[in-house]
Formats: sequence, C-alpha cells, structure tokens
Amino acid sequence: MREQLAKIRAAALAAFEGAASKVDLDELRVRYLGKKGELTAVLKQMGKLSPEERPAMGQLANEVRAALEEALDSTAKNLEAAALEAKLKAETLDVTVPGVPVPEGHRHPMYIALDEMKEIFIGMGFTVLDGPEIELAQLNFDRLNAEEGHPSRDWSDTFYFDADSRVMLRSQTSPMQVRAMDSMPLPIRIIAPGRVYRKDEVDATHSPMFHQVEGMVIDKGVTMADLKGTLNTVVERMYGVGTKTRFRPHHFPFTEPSCEVDVQCHKCGGVGCPTCKGEGWIELLGAGMIHPRVLEMAGIDPNEWSGWAFGFGLERTAMRRFKIDDLRLIFENDVRFLEQF
Ligand code: PHE
Repeated sequence: MREQLAKIRAAALAAFEGAASKVDLDELRVRYLGKKGELTAVLKQMGKLSPEERPAMGQLANEVRAALEEALDSTAKNLEAAALEAKLKAETLDVTVPGVPVPEGHRHPMYIALDEMKEIFIGMGFTVLDGPEIELAQLNFDRLNAEEGHPSRDWSDTFYFDADSRVMLRSQTSPMQVRAMDSMPLPIRIIAPGRVYRKDEVDATHSPMFHQVEGMVIDKGVTMADLKGTLNTVVERMYGVGTKTRFRPHHFPFTEPSCEVDVQCHKCGGVGCPTCKGEGWIELLGAGMIHPRVLEMAGIDPNEWSGWAFGFGLERTAMRRFKIDDLRLIFENDVRFLEQF
C-alpha cells in the first residue's frame, strides 16, 4: 500500500505539471482525488490492514492528499496567471501605429458665402432673423402689395397647400419684412436668409428650391443712397475692392422705386462670355425703397419713416464668390466638388 500511495503521488504530481488548462486540471482532480478516484480506491483497502499498520498508513494517505491538493492549487494559479498574460499580450495596443484617417467634413461653399455675408451685415448693426418656409399667402403676397390677380400668385408659379391658395411654400424671403415690421420696434435693421420655392425646371441657373437673403432697414430719413452705399460695401467686401455693380430700374410690387443689382462677371470682367450669357454682368439681387402702402399695412407712418429692402440670390452670390458656373453643382453635393472649398 505504501508503494501504491507513492506511485499515485508521483503520477499525480507529474500529471498536474503537464496540465495545459484549468479544464485539464479539473479532470485530473476528479481522477486522483474524486470519490471514485485513485486515492480513494486505495483508502478503501485500509480495512484489510492490521490495526497496528492502520494509523501510520492513514497518516501517509492524508499527507499524499494534502500534497496533491496543494499542487493542484498552485498549478491552477500558475495557469491562471499564464492565461492572463497571454490575453494581455494578444490585446496589446501599439499606440505609436498611425490611426486610420477619418474624413473630415467642412462647410458647404454656399454656407461659407452666407457666413461671410452675415458677418458683414452683423458688423453694420443688422440682426439675423429666421422664418418659416411654409408661409401664409397673406404675408407672401397681400401684405407685400401683390394683390389677387398678380401674376406671381399664379398656380403655375407657386406651390400651394390648399385649394383656396392661402398656405404656400414661400416664393421669396420678403414676407420676413412683414414679420419683422409686425414684431420688432423701430428702427429696424435685419437680414433673413432662407429657402424659397418656385415651380421652375432645373437648369444651370434655375432650381425649384433656392436660397435668398432678405434685408431691410426702416428708420427716419433713409434714402436710396444708403441702399446703394450699403450694397456696394457688401459687394466689395465679398468680391474685392473695386468690384463694379450696376443698378438697373425694375419693378416689384412692394418697393418703389425698385431696381435689380448686377455685379461684373468674374469670368470675363464685363466683356461678355457664356457664364454671363454675353451680358458682362451677373444679376445678384432685387431691391428698392419700401412702398408706402407696405409700411401703412404694417401700421408704420410713411411720412415719418422710410426704408429699403433687398433680396440677394444666395446661390448666385456663392457662385460669383467661388467662380462656380453651374447652379446644379451647389445642390448635387458631389464630394469631389465640395472638397475644393
Ligand atoms: N423678393 C424679390 C424677389 O424674389 C427680391 C426683392 C426683395 C426685391 C426685397 C425688392 C426688395 O425677386
């Protein structure tokens, strides 16, 4: 029996040492120390021993059990440590490896132009307003002196929501003039950028959705000279000192007198080319002195106050600013185009 115990001990210790994992080790624990294990089998034979031999043999068996248990514990700890080590090694992060570049977005050229324009107007004491794209025809037309029957109210030009033509997608940012007059104390200096909608076919200069920047000043003694000076300053700040403008007489129902303002073509410098359709000039905005009737409808006395307003086409402004010759490029959002700004 003594020999048997010694054999078990040697075999078990060797086996523990060779265990590659905790699972292996558990199997070995069952095999040597379990209820049906080898050590237990030997102990079951104790009954055959003489009473004198039993205590010594019992003590030896206990020693072997203790030795095996201790060896199991320490092997288990070693395996655990080794496993952790391997895991850490496998998960090592080399912080010196260059990262995967994340493509960085940036502002759209039209919004770069808008931000420049806002900056200029804010510097002149203007407040920037935001307004609804779904507008009442009353504000888009009536309050702007475009009465029933005015051609711009036609269903073929305007997106209406209802059969009575009362609610619509605004066709211009000019209703923001009315909203400002109705909600702000005088004097007023505002600009109001935003989207507008018209039933136009898409081509190099048209889109059913485009952007305008409305502007309005109402104060005492305001004249057309202030309008001209302000617009020329903005154009020079955006396009460079010496950039020429041209003020042409025009008609809008809500301004009198009215004008359209062109800026010299950036491609040909005014000689005439395909970009400016041979004109030498590119139309940027409509403007004029606010019609006394529009002031009256807002409860403002035209004998005491006067004002002017303008509406920039924002796409055109950005196209002139960045020398873009097709409006569609602004909306297509082709990254190869956008990345150039
Ligand atoms: N709303 C006009 C348009 O869309 C532009 C404009 C604005 C003209 C303000 C005069 C004053 O064409």
